[in-house]
Amino acid sequence: MKTILITGATAGFGEAAARKFVAGGWKAIGTGRREERLKKLQEELGDAFLPLAFDMRDVGAIHRLSDLAPPWGEVDLLLNNAGLAPPTDPLAETDWERIEAVIHTNVTGLVGLTRALLPKLIERKGQIINLSSVAATYPYKGGAVYAGTKAFVRQFSLDLRSDLAGTGVRVTSVEPGMAETEFTIVRTGGDKEASDRLYAGMNPMTSGDLADLFWWLANLPPHLNINTVELMPVSQSFAGFTVTREG
Ligand SMILES: NC(=O)c1ccc[n+]([C@@H]2O[C@H](COP(=O)([O-])OP(=O)(O)OC[C@H]3O[C@@H](n4cnc5c(N)ncnc54)[C@H](OP(=O)(O)O)[C@@H]3O)[C@@H](O)[C@H]2O)c1
Repeated sequence: MKTILITGATAGFGEAAARKFVAGGWKAIGTGRREERLKKLQEELGDAFLPLAFDMRDVGAIHRLSDLAPPWGEVDLLLNNAGLAPPTDPLAETDWERIEAVIHTNVTGLVGLTRALLPKLIERKGQIINLSSVAATYPYKGGAVYAGTKAFVRQFSLDLRSDLAGTGVRVTSVEPGMAETEFTIVRTGGDKEASDRLYAGMNPMTSGDLADLFWWLANLPPHLNINTVELMPVSQSFAGFTVTREG
């Protein structure tokens, strides 16, 4: 029986992934700050799910994960999914605490956890799936910090592959466009109506779409590495450049 460690299993993609992998016969370790949600998921999924509540910004907690005893310590797949975005206000008008939380979660925590689990992943010829975003590639107003962290995740994933050459460990950067989760509610500081307006009538991707993609990646033959996957809902597309003119 294989084991997946999913960061951010209290909502969105991570929660859907926990359900998908446990239904598929895997054990899943789910993390996040909201312990009560993890406990509820454990009630639903049973002994195949291990709740591990901690904050991705807590470097000590992350390092302790390398001490996880078997059977839970035998992680085959690390799904680096926990992440968030600051508001889309101009940089100078965005609270420093919000910016710092995003960088520490999306970048520092992700690197720390990956580093802590790498020896075990190498031992087991495991797999790493990192959540980047289309924001890594396509700039938009108000996206500087979030997009910067996701561009880091994309490049980190590609370069990590170089480090891991010859180990059999696979690494993929998953780069989604708009999916309706709690992402925009968190980004707007709890404004559910703003989130509803953003996704209204545009048929966004769902957490289930992403869980299906993770499942596909996890079940590819071991000689195959998907480096990056970029996906969007059909109703999302690209805009042009902004041109400012005098007068
Ligand atoms: N939804 C989209 O349109 C979209 C598009 C591209 C990429 N992504 C990326 O996909 C990933 C999942 O997003 P989602 O849409 O599923 O968002 P979501 O519904 O808001 O879920 C985010 C998860 O991350 C966890 N998390 C956030 N900060 C954390 C921290 N400091 N410590 C521990 N866990 C933390 C949350 O858990 P707690 O709050 O309980 O800690 C939650 O479980 C993120 O990396 C996001 O950037 C999303």
